[in-house]
Amino acid sequence: MKVIVSIGGSVLVPTVDADRVAAYADVIEGLDDAGHTIGLVVGGGPTAREYIGAARELGANEIELDQLGIAVTRLNARLLIAALDNRVAPTPPEDHDRAREALQRGDIPVMGGTVAGHTTDAVATALAEYTDADLLIYATSVDGVYSADPSEDSEATKFDRLSPGELVDIVGGIELEAGSNAPVDLLATKLLERSGLRAVVLDGTEPELVADAVDGGHDGTEIVPEER
Ligand code: UTP
Repeated sequence: MKVIVSIGGSVLVPTVDADRVAAYADVIEGLDDAGHTIGLVVGGGPTAREYIGAARELGANEIELDQLGIAVTRLNARLLIAALDNRVAPTPPEDHDRAREALQRGDIPVMGGTVAGHTTDAVATALAEYTDADLLIYATSVDGVYSADPSEDSEATKFDRLSPGELVDIVGGIELEAGSNAPVDLLATKLLERSGLRAVVLDGTEPELVADAVDGGHDGTEIVPEER
């Protein structure tokens, strides 16, 4: 199966911890050993937020803040590359063409961000669409998509299954600004809507849950394409 995984920076690098990154790399290598084709996209996490916060105070504009965020995502991607063995492309592909070429060579591409204005969720969704992936996994710091932000609203309920259109409606209300905190970004949901991809939003803090989802078992939210 061809699987693209968007690994949130807040799950891979909440702090810079070699053991956590190594645990992720082990799971990815296991999926590769099992015969799956894997592409990865890594987020910026708290380090990106810190840089964006400081630069915003210094008067940077939103595009400049996005560029800082992209730099941190690529830094985190390099950390995961360091943990993966020689099946991995040695540098983070900076665009989707290079990532697709790496996949075609049989390497595991580990991308960070690409251009300003969205997050690595959108990068991963576009990579999944471009490479005709069978499954797209958003490994996030929440265990699925909720009716409201569960950290702020105790009444929030988790969805087991959503159509991409329903996901667009939920995410559409959340502000698009550098470092914003939606479970999946709006552009990603719009790409999902047109692509017909099968996607899962799940708790990425335990990397084994990513492997379980590839094998068909998860407790996250399944985004299932609408019948055409
Ligand atoms: P992330 O993809 O990490 O955003 O990009 P996130 O949703 O905050 O994810 P976590 O916390 O890692 O799970 C961090 C920031 O980098 C910029 C945006 O400003 C984003 O908020 N960015 C990232 C881009 O502008 N373009 C990209 O392609 C990727």
